[in-house]
Amino acid sequence: MGSVAHLPVGSSQCPYLVVRDPEAVRDILHRPAEFSPANALIAVTPIAGPALRVLQSVRFALPPVLASNDTDSHAGIRKVVGSFFTPAKVAAMEPRIRELARAAAAQAAGELGRSGQADLVQSVAAFTPAVVMLELLGLPVRDLAALKRWGLDSMELFWGWPDCDRQLELAGSAAGFYTWLRELVGESVGAPGRNLFKSLHEHGLSTPEICSLGYFLLIAGQETTTQLISTTLFRLLEGTGPVTWAEAADEESARSMVWHVLATESSVPTWRRVSAQDATAAGQAIPAGAEILLELTGTHDLPGEQEEDLAPTAGTARRRRPTAYGLVFGSGIHRCLGARLTELEATVIVQETAAALPQARLRDHEPEWIRHLSFQAPKTVTVTAGKV
Ligand code: HEM
Repeated sequence: MGSVAHLPVGSSQCPYLVVRDPEAVRDILHRPAEFSPANALIAVTPIAGPALRVLQSVRFALPPVLASNDTDSHAGIRKVVGSFFTPAKVAAMEPRIRELARAAAAQAAGELGRSGQADLVQSVAAFTPAVVMLELLGLPVRDLAALKRWGLDSMELFWGWPDCDRQLELAGSAAGFYTWLRELVGESVGAPGRNLFKSLHEHGLSTPEICSLGYFLLIAGQETTTQLISTTLFRLLEGTGPVTWAEAADEESARSMVWHVLATESSVPTWRRVSAQDATAAGQAIPAGAEILLELTGTHDLPGEQEEDLAPTAGTARRRRPTAYGLVFGSGIHRCLGARLTELEATVIVQETAAALPQARLRDHEPEWIRHLSFQAPKTVTVTAGKV
């Protein structure tokens, strides 16, 4: 089967048709009529009755609007959302991103000096992406700690494997997020100036549709970046990447380390599609309704090589190559609208952190990781002060 196979993913048996070959992944992403994104926001673990009732109590709903929209309305809505993240708008944010990154890095340095240790996820990776996203969308910058918690809880509820008790907790959090969001949407459509929710309202979207988009974007638009930064900082401090911690204080080196992490263990390693009809991909018949898991990042066996060429090399059982960088943000009509922003933010934050904390040394080499179907990152990156 080679490139399309039923495989176990993580610890649980995988119900997906897993596609790993980059060419097959690209092919599927470019055939949205046959391979629909309608399952993009469906819970990986079916939500059980008690948790569902919590969600229903706040009229929680995620109608298809953008990432999971396979109808003709997608293009117009994408245009409205994309207008908030144009290359010019993203580039103009660089000084603001740098200002926030420097302040956060200085605070982390202070914490390291005072207490001898700091968690770089909380001190530098978590909040700058959230502030930048809200500012770009024209939305009020508030309730950031709650927003971070809601984002993580919702990722686990929709992309993780929570048991019933955990689902109930997570559903309570998702319901809180959704209620907050509906209030924000109501407030924003009547607010002066330009903001995303007002623009979507003017485009003709209903409040549940705007809430659905907001629910996805307020998570996708910042937590994925936080997680990319967390993994990049962790691998730099661990010393397992192509760039050293000292070198990362230089912008080009920081950027190349961010690209390395995107290509090898991005915060969004997979994404889903569902076949809308009987179809063929990578030479294999795929029945209508098949749930497909596309591997966007990671490592692959080198195609066309003989077994003897796949001799073990340092740290790997077989010789492998990183996924083509071009798939990391998806491809085709649903390609990520935040790619440019993410690269900029991650580069600047990593650079400013490495520059402000030359003495930082990794304290915890085996932190807990977020390991959901489509999201991954270390939960903490704890450093101590070593000798420079
Ligand atoms: C490390 C950071 C990020 C990664 C790896 C990432 C990855 C992805 C992927 C794989 C998709 C699905 C693409 C497809 O279906 O073809 C996607 C969609 C999307 N992403 Fe990102 N993303 C990141 C950050 C962001 C940020 C910062 C924003 C917003 C500022 C954003 C906004 C979106 C939107 C709006 C979509 C849906 C686009 C559509 O359906 O037309 N993402 N992203």
